[in-house]
Amino acid sequence: MALIGPSGSGKSSLLMLLGGLEQATGGQVKALGHDLATLSEDQLAALRRDHFGVVFQSFHLIPTMTALENVATPLELAGARDAFSRAAEELAAVGLADRQDHYPAQLSGGEQQRVALARAAAPRPDIVLADEPTGNLDASNGAAIVDLLFDLRARHGATLVLVTHDPKLAARCDRVITLTDGRIEESRAA
Ligand SMILES: Nc1ncnc2c1ncn2[C@@H]1O[C@H](COP(=O)(O)OP(=O)(O)OP(=O)(O)O)[C@@H](O)[C@H]1O
Ligand SMILES: [Mg+2]
Repeated sequence: MALIGPSGSGKSSLLMLLGGLEQATGGQVKALGHDLATLSEDQLAALRRDHFGVVFQSFHLIPTMTALENVATPLELAGARDAFSRAAEELAAVGLADRQDHYPAQLSGGEQQRVALARAAAPRPDIVLADEPTGNLDASNGAAIVDLLFDLRARHGATLVLVTHDPKLAARCDRVITLTDGRIEESRAA
């Protein structure tokens, strides 16, 4: 599903609410059968950890951790004993097998976003929230990230909620929702 609309229309806000990263001051947010407002902080954290993967425009990697550590961390938090070997597999799947010991500052933007994608994908989330994931990348790196996102959806059956300004990219999604001034202006199947 793609979320489109002018700057300030509420795309990022909606994504944050859906992922339980921000609390709604009004209305109701239902995700995966839960009314998010009824969950405790711990329950919300567990829901995020077990079911959501998030990718941002500006990568949001932890600068003091290597690529491998960035990807392994959510797996460790979820209690996986093989976190580091799985993280290595995820990095290989995004073409970064030879970069796993690099720190974010030693990676290009495209490489950093691939690490972020591997990190989001590693716990096999049900829903991947991506907020303009190609916004800071040149065309060829952006296209590679988009292919990886759709590949993730195809391989693991994750629901993809993608904020984008790119109409061509939106058209690749099975539903396109247009926001204006915080409201849905149009919701159409592609
Ligand atoms: N935490 C917040 N509290 C109150 N208002 C906010 C908050 N975050 C964003 N806003 C406001 O809500 C509106 C929607 O912002 P949002 O960031 O969701 O837009 P957007 O559609 O993602 O825009 P862009 O395309 O520029 O990223 C804006 O007017 C913004 O100033
Ligand atoms: Mg935004």
